[in-house]
Amino acid sequence: MTNTAGKYCFTHRTGEDIFLFSLRNSAGTEITITNYGAIISSFKIQMDDGTNNDIVLGFDNIEDYLADDYLNKYPFFGAAIGRYANRIKNAAFEIDGKKYPLTSNSRNNQLHGGHEGFDKKVWQWVAQGETPHHWLELKYTSPDGEEGYPGKLAVTIRFELTNDNELSYAYTASCDKATAVNLTHHGYFNLNRGSGTIEDHEVKIYASSVLEQDEGLVATGQLTPVKNTGYDFTEFTAVGNGSIPAEDFDKSFVLDPRKDCLVAEARSLRSGLRLQVYSTEPVVHFYTGKWIPVIKGKNGNTYGPLSGLCLETQKHPNAVNIPGFANTVLRSGETYSHKTTYKIII
Ligand code: BGC
Repeated sequence: MTNTAGKYCFTHRTGEDIFLFSLRNSAGTEITITNYGAIISSFKIQMDDGTNNDIVLGFDNIEDYLADDYLNKYPFFGAAIGRYANRIKNAAFEIDGKKYPLTSNSRNNQLHGGHEGFDKKVWQWVAQGETPHHWLELKYTSPDGEEGYPGKLAVTIRFELTNDNELSYAYTASCDKATAVNLTHHGYFNLNRGSGTIEDHEVKIYASSVLEQDEGLVATGQLTPVKNTGYDFTEFTAVGNGSIPAEDFDKSFVLDPRKDCLVAEARSLRSGLRLQVYSTEPVVHFYTGKWIPVIKGKNGNTYGPLSGLCLETQKHPNAVNIPGFANTVLRSGETYSHKTTYKIII
């Protein structure tokens, strides 16, 4: 099968073509995804008055994701994150007694896979279809040694949009050597057409504890109960209303297991939209965009700190260095899988 449905955007410096794909449903929702970084560049909900509410931050012109002023203070808008989400302490880990030094890009730690993580890679189109729902599959093969990681890792991401306004992404991955893998996707949501700040958004996270972090924001291995702290989001709480300043949320929440896999929600009373996040993963990293650069985005919006919020589902950050956290070592012959679903309720 060849890619027949993508709209050509530009040719990347690697010589590979960058496309924009669309998924649409019967409710009038449209999602656009590019094979540059497997980025979700728009998530347009058709509102009752017939207008579109585009609820994720990003750019209309896909080349803007490669612009210097964006990359200089880079927030990973809407991109696939790999091989390893969040920070790995001292940019190194050991598997079977062998130490693997990684590239470092956040003090001396590694953040989101290093200098050129999966967010900046050109993914290849695999297939797309309409049964049972509109879906698109992309793949990326990460060579042995990339950013310091052992083994050649083959990753597939499948996006699917149902008529009930559920957008899911499902990763599978396999490697020819034992390696460390912890994938997520870095969407920034703003349920008010991407405009203004998310301080008035109310958030609920199904977690009774958070991970303690060191001064470099790396998970230490300790858990702290959320009860009687500003991290208690077990009931809907406005981001800007608590004891913690709105821009200071950059924290991993350890989820309480639930049969329905609902892990977090966000709602805006202004637009009336509610986002539910369902996931197979044990942790949600809640980030309110403190370091979003002041930059012109889509739909006439100018972004900056607090323009969007992230609910990044993953295994515990730095788990590869912490016995007792979820296993993030993938061995040859095994298959990694992760599925997260965003459900929008109008
Ligand atoms: C991290 C932040 C980081 C951001 C990058 C988040 O997942 O937790 O510390 O600055 O990604 O934009």
